[in-house]
Amino acid sequence: MDRIFSGIQPSGEIHIGNYVGAIRNWAQLVNRYDCVYCVVDYHAITIEYEVALMQQRILETATVLVACGLTPDRCKLFVQSHVPEHTELTWIFNCVTPVGELERMTQFKEKGKQHRHNVNVGLLDYPVLQAADILIYKAGYVPVGEDQIQHVEFSREIARKFNARFGDTFPEPQVLLSDAPRILGTDGGSKMSKSLNNAIGLLDPPEVIQEKLRTAVTDANRQRRSDPGNPDRCNIFTMHQAFSRPDQIAFIDHHCRTAGIGCIECKEILFKNMMEEIGPIQGRVREMNQNPQYMVDVLKSGAARCKAIAKEVMDEVRSKIGVKAGWMGK
Ligand code: TRP
Repeated sequence: MDRIFSGIQPSGEIHIGNYVGAIRNWAQLVNRYDCVYCVVDYHAITIEYEVALMQQRILETATVLVACGLTPDRCKLFVQSHVPEHTELTWIFNCVTPVGELERMTQFKEKGKQHRHNVNVGLLDYPVLQAADILIYKAGYVPVGEDQIQHVEFSREIARKFNARFGDTFPEPQVLLSDAPRILGTDGGSKMSKSLNNAIGLLDPPEVIQEKLRTAVTDANRQRRSDPGNPDRCNIFTMHQAFSRPDQIAFIDHHCRTAGIGCIECKEILFKNMMEEIGPIQGRVREMNQNPQYMVDVLKSGAARCKAIAKEVMDEVRSKIGVKAGWMGK
């Protein structure tokens, strides 16, 4: 089976944009691939963060992933810092990476602007750590959103550079784009993001989700109930595409355009469908929170299984780059 690797940052509350865009897709891939999924805590420390909250965020992120179906019998789930080979391989990759290429990365330039007072080497090196995440497992496929395509392409380049210099070692990983609709924030204009205060949290209580939907922006041209709407310009319709049945989507598309139903009714249908899907996830999170030892065991065994692979690849790498001498023994 081909191997997949993907990672998610433990940066606070997971929202339905993360769920539809990434996590739900990850869960669908477990039958067809050998899946390795990672909570990338070392990536998260490249920008300012609350030290006291980190543990809780890592655990919460991992718990949500399990609740969404990424159980230990279906995939390997672990925390990046529990397998130090990721950072070890990063160092070696650093030595085949031209600085200029990192300076040209879109995400670095954006984050560099956002965090002007803290443009640290880790922020610049972020894509190299990401390449190491993927390549330490020799993963062939990486399910990510469009914003990560450049980073995966960079990983291909690192693999190519390493192979050219030290001999064929790594595959060139490919992006696996999902066909999930891209859900915007409740303001209808920008990417869903906790910091923009426009996110629907996957773990928000039902009444909170209902209220966020009630006030969410729809097609701005539809002022009155009697105006026909345009689903193509409506973020609520995009959410229907993510959560509703095909016949309901067709119904809403038609009746929105003809002013057959209003936004209130449309949102009620969405709310019901959304809760049908994420209600059970919330239930499983509550259950797991009752038994903290369960997640500890999941993450420990996930790290152990990943470590076994990472260790072997690291050994091969050390030999290839000439630092592992025969006289050192096994
Ligand atoms: N950079 C990714 C993001 O912000 C997270 C990530 C880290 C990742 N390492 C990875 C994704 C390896 C895919 C593969 O979404």
